Amino acid sequence: MNPFHYGNIVSGEYFYDRKEELERIVQTLKGGNNLMLYAPRRYGKSSLVAKALNELRKDGFTTVYIDFMSVYSRETFIKNYTSAIAEQQSMSFEKLVKKMAGLIQGIVPAISFDHMGSPSFSFSWVEGHDTEQTLKETIDFPEKVSTGEKRWIIAFDEFQEITKLNGESFEKILRSCIQHHKNVSYLFLGSRTHVLKDMFNNKNRAFYNAAMLMNIDTISDADSLVYLTRRFGKFNMVIDEPTANYLIHKVASIPYYIQFVAAEIWQQLIGGDLGQKTISIQQVDTAINSILNIKADYYWELINKQTNYRKKILFALSHGVDEVFSKSTAEKYRLGPASTTQKALDTFIEEGIIERINNKYHFSDPIFKLFLIQHL
Ligand SMILES: Nc1ncnc2c1ncn2[C@@H]1O[C@H](COP(=O)(O)OP(=O)(O)OP(=O)(O)O)[C@@H](O)[C@H]1O
Ligand SMILES: [Mg+2]
Repeated sequence: MNPFHYGNIVSGEYFYDRKEELERIVQTLKGGNNLMLYAPRRYGKSSLVAKALNELRKDGFTTVYIDFMSVYSRETFIKNYTSAIAEQQSMSFEKLVKKMAGLIQGIVPAISFDHMGSPSFSFSWVEGHDTEQTLKETIDFPEKVSTGEKRWIIAFDEFQEITKLNGESFEKILRSCIQHHKNVSYLFLGSRTHVLKDMFNNKNRAFYNAAMLMNIDTISDADSLVYLTRRFGKFNMVIDEPTANYLIHKVASIPYYIQFVAAEIWQQLIGGDLGQKTISIQQVDTAINSILNIKADYYWELINKQTNYRKKILFALSHGVDEVFSKSTAEKYRLGPASTTQKALDTFIEEGIIERINNKYHFSDPIFKLFLIQHL
């Protein structure tokens, strides 16, 4: 088994560090406050939150997790949210279905069994019932079944996606319901940091001041180094400090990409003789090149979608330009007025290609940056 995992949520031995962040999340929610956790893509938000919910469950809280990525209407919210609630582990299916039937008028919840006899939750709609009413009753359900002693904690992942539903005034309805909840704390998280911050910091938005804000950084390089050494070590593979740091810096310390490259190195070294293997800088480069090859089609597609002006900016940024609005940058890379450059950068941020962190522009995907350096 590859000792490195990349993709979405990691847990157990695949998860390292984040002790302080974990403590802060757990304590904030235990204290009855809501929290909004934001960080760029692939920093490890969902994994951290999964771990926090796990701890809270051990302390007697009922926890629910729902990802807004798959929510695109009031109906899909009701469907996904009631299913997520059904998966909480503090109440039996039977009891839950009974309570839901009593408290949410617009649906008829049921338990179905697969051929193995495992139960799963489903429901049918009550014809002609007002969806807004059903939506509100669904949102209020956790508050109705929790108590001061048996509190609930609910995590809404990729919460910025709620803005897709604003035509249906979803944001307002959700806020107006949950602001009355006393026995439920909410954890909102997501990666579109500028969208999320606007939702919680802008006076004119429904979620203004609705939660404490917290952001997470990449994992410290020192801890990543210890983890890489330990995990490779299990397979008699040695990575020395300069090589580990080389790997970490190549991918801008972003947790997902550290695991991605490490997994690829492991894949290339496993097999053959069983003696000790020392990982070299060249092997790190070979692994990265192999990832670049795997992703080439996707990257070309992404590049070809860009206007020529945006390609010039990608070129400048991938070659390490910091002062993207300066006169000398404009001259060197033949860019137009700052306002045009700003517009292009906004589009990149919107599309998730670029992140703005402390007023500097970074590639969300450090491997894409390497691809641009090679090909543009
Ligand atoms: N604490 C950690 N320990 C080990 N690996 C981690 C950790 N956090 C993140 N990773 C790596 O990053 C990958 C992505 O993690 P996760 O899905 O939790 O991040 P995310 O910020 O929610 O990403 P996205 O923005 O895509 O939703 C994991 O599959 C894993 O490879
Ligand atoms: Mg996530």
